[in-house]
Amino acid sequence: RLAPVAVLGGVLALAGCSGQAPSALDPAGTGAGRVADLWWVLFWISIAVFVEVMVLLAWALLFRRRRDARVRHGQPLRFVVVAGAGVPLVILVTVYALGLRDLAALGDGPEPGATTIEVTGHQWWWEVRVPGVAGATANELHIPVGEQVRIRLRTVDVLHSFWVPQLMPKTDLIAGEVRETWLRAERAGSYRGQCAEYCGTQHAHMAFLVVAEPRRDFDAWLARLGSPAAGPQTDAQRRGQQAFAQGSCAGCHAIRGTDANGQVGPDLSDVGARWSIGAGAVPNDGGHLGGWIANSQTVKPGNHMPPQPVPAAQLPDLIAYLQSLK
Ligand code: CUA
Repeated sequence: RLAPVAVLGGVLALAGCSGQAPSALDPAGTGAGRVADLWWVLFWISIAVFVEVMVLLAWALLFRRRRDARVRHGQPLRFVVVAGAGVPLVILVTVYALGLRDLAALGDGPEPGATTIEVTGHQWWWEVRVPGVAGATANELHIPVGEQVRIRLRTVDVLHSFWVPQLMPKTDLIAGEVRETWLRAERAGSYRGQCAEYCGTQHAHMAFLVVAEPRRDFDAWLARLGSPAAGPQTDAQRRGQQAFAQGSCAGCHAIRGTDANGQVGPDLSDVGARWSIGAGAVPNDGGHLGGWIANSQTVKPGNHMPPQPVPAAQLPDLIAYLQSLK
């Protein structure tokens, strides 16, 4: 009986966080649309059940005495069978059928020839690649708006779950398996995604962004992904590039077109253009970037990047260089 109250509470809670947090009830994609429609069906059914139960409760309380006076057998039994078994059966079968219908529709696809994007889960960031394109990026993927896009998911460590509330339902990343799902954005925009399976201390900071854009812009993104990173333009950026190559940075991170070819951490070829540092941990600006390089453990404790003994004089150069990579 508390279920409808909980649902109402959930609606109020969702209404309260309409700011930045994406809502599955504000769908902008095919999969999320089905989930939202199903949610509303369940919502109105639970409202109807709640009202019915309250009416029966009031009726029982008000007419208790009269019923005590003359109980007629047969009548109550029929009521118990119809209201207690028949009605719930109809509701459950209906909901089950709707669920199966949506499950089948979501499992059906994408179209052959759909663009494929490979997403690999790491503790705690997302590696993004496109088959046939040389480069990689992190925590941000672009998709052509209005098209079905195949998402191929793997994990290199523990379970994660790929979820873009406004575009698609969750798909788990299972160790040792390659799983496929798909999404389709109906309108252009940036949609926040989030790891939806607890995967360790920084599970909350395993966010990503899906940018749905016209085909032309998507093709431009693909071209950027496949080409070398921007070269340094200023003296500070040149010094920064040297510091990056000679220090420990290049042991873990790759920058396309340079000798830095580490494969442990995210590819940094376009780090200056990213929406955040540390998969949604902090904004991508000079101050946070410097703090992250010096000791990312104070920003995102437990992440796999050890504190870096960077000489203070080198830090501004490194920041200038990394910010120029876009
Ligand atoms: Cu990855 Cu939670």
